[in-house]
Amino acid sequence: MPELDSPQRHAPDPLMLTGFWYRALPADRVHRNQLHKAMLLEIPLVVGRDRVGRPFALRDACPHRGMPLHCGKFDGENVECPYHGWTFDAHNGQCQLIPSLTADQNLRVDRIYAGGYPCEEQDGFVWVYIPDPGPPGAGFTEPEEAPEPAPLIEKFSVSGKDKDKYKLAYLTADMPVSIDHGIIGLMDPAHGPFVHQAWWWRSRHSIHEKNKNFEPIPNGFRMSAHMPSSNSAPYKLLRLYAAADSITTTIDFTLPNLRRETIRAGKYWFSSLTTVTPITRNQCRIDVVAAWNLFRSLPFGSELLKFVFAKFVEQDRRTMELQSEGLKHNPHLMLIDDADRPAKWYFQLKAAHLEAKRTGAEMKHPMTGPVTLKWRS
Ligand code: FES
Ligand SMILES: [Fe+2]
Repeated sequence: MPELDSPQRHAPDPLMLTGFWYRALPADRVHRNQLHKAMLLEIPLVVGRDRVGRPFALRDACPHRGMPLHCGKFDGENVECPYHGWTFDAHNGQCQLIPSLTADQNLRVDRIYAGGYPCEEQDGFVWVYIPDPGPPGAGFTEPEEAPEPAPLIEKFSVSGKDKDKYKLAYLTADMPVSIDHGIIGLMDPAHGPFVHQAWWWRSRHSIHEKNKNFEPIPNGFRMSAHMPSSNSAPYKLLRLYAAADSITTTIDFTLPNLRRETIRAGKYWFSSLTTVTPITRNQCRIDVVAAWNLFRSLPFGSELLKFVFAKFVEQDRRTMELQSEGLKHNPHLMLIDDADRPAKWYFQLKAAHLEAKRTGAEMKHPMTGPVTLKWRS
């Protein structure tokens, strides 16, 4: 099978950017001494927590004959394959025992590894670092170290008596579209009046012209600090707390899939980190995690916020479910200016990132300076 070694096969897949952290599972669904299945970038994983609660992730395939390890046993430290009982350290995947070996057989058990991935718990999620495809010889490779810690949600009242006085909540939804459609749907300003209508929220008649300033940031772009749209969700809630003109919001997008929104109003703040994670080529998952110090004193305040966000995510999910019908037969698509310019930047950023990786040169940012975009929404 000589074609297996052709260069195309090793070309990086722009739908599956490696060398980044990805959210694998909500932390409250990963229990001590249990094994859970997860999938990231078409890589099946077994995820769990050891007996002190530290999370781990291994490739869900035994290096002996490929048995899924999540079907095996876990004693809080080592994972035992259900086929021939080989056991592996849950954190680094190093083989500890091959029960069939006799005393005079000197196979170096400690040189065998079930693929282990860097794994961290951060802001309510278990994150897994997916390294660039390693060299061949799987089964004998130690896990790579992640070059930086998993992404954090920015929090603003973490000193003095305000420390830890914030709430954190998450929402998650599976979308039957590729990560690209998931991400450009997330950054698309023009669908709001059509998808996110509700009698208590806004109607399509509230549509009006908007001007937004964008600037390049490393690996991404920022919608510069501005007053939130008068018809946006958090803005309406914040108006209950602060003078309208003291409210500012900033939205950042960075590769591979991170959207951060920060809203500040005096001493109050709301901060979210939304990710769109590639599960398979045709399936992604959107996870919204928000932290805020508003509404803590108001009964039902945080329930209201969760209700609003759950509605929004469900409207997006339903839309993408319908969109996936339309995408089944590969229709021609287009991106227009200015409303789809952020989507164009996303594709340009990915191309620039992959090109920099290929050549080893510094990444050439597709934006050369600040840009103002106009649209009606
Ligand atoms: S397949 Fe796992 S021990 Fe043989
Ligand atoms: Fe939306």
